[in-house]
Amino acid sequence: TMRRNSFPAHTRNGISMASVPSLSASLQQRVSAALAAAVPSAVDADPLLRRSDRADFQANGVLGLAKRAKANPRELAAAVLAALPTDEVVGQVEVSGPGFLNISVPDAAITANLSLRAADDRLGVPEKAAPGITVIDYAQPNVAKEMHVGHLRSSVIGDAIAKILEFEGEQVVRRHHIGDWGTQFGMMIQYLLEHPHALDHTEGSDADAGEASMSRLDRLYKSARTLFDADEAFKDRSRRRVVDLQAGDPETLATWQRFVDESKIYFFSVYDKLDIEIADADIVGESGYNDMLVETCELLEKSGVAVRSEGALCVFFDDIKGKDGDPVPLIVRKSDGGFGYAATDLSAIRNRTGDLHATTLLYVVDVRQSLHFKMVFETARRAGWLTDGVVARHLPFGTVLGADGKPFKTRAGASVKLEDLLDEAVDRATAVVREKGEKIGLSEQEIVDNGRQVGIGAVKYADLSTSLGRDYIFDLDRMVSLNGDTSVYLQYAYARTRSIFRKAGPDQRPVAHPELALEPAERALGLHLDAFGDALAEVAESYEPHRLASYLFQLASLFTTFYELCPVLTADGGPAQVENRLLLCELTGRTLSKGLQLLGIRSPERL
Ligand code: ARG
Repeated sequence: TMRRNSFPAHTRNGISMASVPSLSASLQQRVSAALAAAVPSAVDADPLLRRSDRADFQANGVLGLAKRAKANPRELAAAVLAALPTDEVVGQVEVSGPGFLNISVPDAAITANLSLRAADDRLGVPEKAAPGITVIDYAQPNVAKEMHVGHLRSSVIGDAIAKILEFEGEQVVRRHHIGDWGTQFGMMIQYLLEHPHALDHTEGSDADAGEASMSRLDRLYKSARTLFDADEAFKDRSRRRVVDLQAGDPETLATWQRFVDESKIYFFSVYDKLDIEIADADIVGESGYNDMLVETCELLEKSGVAVRSEGALCVFFDDIKGKDGDPVPLIVRKSDGGFGYAATDLSAIRNRTGDLHATTLLYVVDVRQSLHFKMVFETARRAGWLTDGVVARHLPFGTVLGADGKPFKTRAGASVKLEDLLDEAVDRATAVVREKGEKIGLSEQEIVDNGRQVGIGAVKYADLSTSLGRDYIFDLDRMVSLNGDTSVYLQYAYARTRSIFRKAGPDQRPVAHPELALEPAERALGLHLDAFGDALAEVAESYEPHRLASYLFQLASLFTTFYELCPVLTADGGPAQVENRLLLCELTGRTLSKGLQLLGIRSPERL
């Protein structure tokens, strides 16, 4: 009675069927109709349907409605109940407490729903009917500078949000607004022109290419800085070099380009380690908006949005004041004529709304830049570059802390090298994976690969499972722990589903048997699987990836309980029950792996 087709086959063929309405959406619709039938003026009353431990779902909307209609809530609940006939998704309904409706869903509905999801490439998750264009600004390190843990957060969070939005059907444009422009380059360019070998590769260095690039850049920066501080003439030549850079002098630009290229070698090596794909074409740094700066300032001045103040071009805000009560302006052009960070961001907004036709602008940048974005968005609204239909959101994230609860630094006060952190995470994960891996006969290569996927996954998950605004402690021991809310726990749950299928024999594709009754652990797991699309929609709406992380953690926990209580391959109920349980395993596995993939985390087949 087992059908052919191996488990991943239908995820490979790229065919997606119609989306599967979630059971909660179907119920929501029916309860809404029943509310409207009981109180005709309540056409769009929210039934406030929630998952519940007492029944499968609880509708709490009667209470508010009773208050509005000045009715007795229990009587009203009884009237709603009468207008809610049982059907294929409405099982038992009863009134409880002051006027709640407890609703359970028939077992058959759960099994039928799982079977529809399993037949769909997208696990039944609908695609947005009217997608917009979202430009997301994340992963924006600075040229010739070491990346720090803040850049790690931006990259990990931005990558996950971009993937989730894309899966929801949104058109996503990625923009990596790297710091590749500004007066600081004058000194470095001048130094490199005077010391043409300063960026040459040193011999005998066995560090990887990325690290080697960064240490060359760092060495050059330090030498240039020392000279700049000690030698007035060099200082002057450096300042003139800034002017040449801004004027687009070819030799100066070519030298500047060397810094950008060298830095990209380093960035890409870190992103590679992080298992984050960044397309070179999406790297549009500050320099990319250089040609727009003059016009941006002119437009702001002409429209009166910006005014001159003490030689600088500024925008003022009523509600933004400094400690002394004086207004804090957004400085678009400094009194020396130089353009700042703000002028670039305003130009980038013009480009993103005007040329890229963005309907949503997202910025994944740490919380310390909140005021900057508040002022930039307000200025762009006044200037008409952000119209009412366009959403602009800064998604601020908190600081990564060391074990001492202070911002992550080494004892010497310097930021910890990102690559060292990642290497250490991989080392620890490999040790964890090795123990079990040797028992189940994994090869050395598999152990190494898994160690990497588990270690990097652990770092990403620790970040993504914390709500964005919160600071969190970077604690590797906790991150790679097998127990608790960690990616390793989820990865093990996934690997377990795969191991069940290996034992079941190859090419098993379970058929659903809706006529069979379900155990409580099966129902709980099935209902949670049904909520995957709802969880994703919530993330896409709130831009809070931790909601997906907690959905997946709950899924793995429910699966663990199911697995302990309900034998799969040796189910008492015979082959039909085996198939029903295999279906739960299959869908759990695919949902875990899809969810992890959207968070940028891999799921090894054997762990
Ligand atoms: N490069 C900046 C930094 O390291 C982040 C850029 C954020 N994006 C933006 N459009 N301002 O702090």
